[in-house]
Amino acid sequence: MTFQKAVALSDLWSGEKIGILLDGKKVLLVNTEGKICAYEDRCGHQGVLLSEGRLNGCVLTCQAHYWEYDVSTGKGVNPAAVQLTAFAVKIENGEIFVDVNAPS
Ligand code: FES
Repeated sequence: MTFQKAVALSDLWSGEKIGILLDGKKVLLVNTEGKICAYEDRCGHQGVLLSEGRLNGCVLTCQAHYWEYDVSTGKGVNPAAVQLTAFAVKIENGEIFVDVNAPS
C-alpha cells in the first residue's frame, strides 16, 4: 500500500466534500459525521465529477442527471445497483492519507 497525503483533516469538516487529484487519479473525499471516505470522483452514469454534486447528509446527488449515492458506503441510492470505487483511507497526525491503488 502506498498512502499519499491528501488534505488536512481540518480542511474537510463534517458535511463537506472535496475533489482532489492524487497520483493522476481524480478522488472524491467526503466527511460524513466524522467518517472520512474516498472514492473515484466519477459518477457511475456518464462519468461526471461527483465532487461537483450536492451533498445532503450522507446522500450525494450528481449534478448532471441526479443519480444519488450514499457516500458513507459508496452504494447507489437511486439507482441502487451502482457502487462507487472506494479507496483506502487513514488519518495520521491530523492529515488524511489515501491509497488510490488499494480498494478499501
Ligand atoms: S453523469 Fe451522474 S447522473 Fe448522469
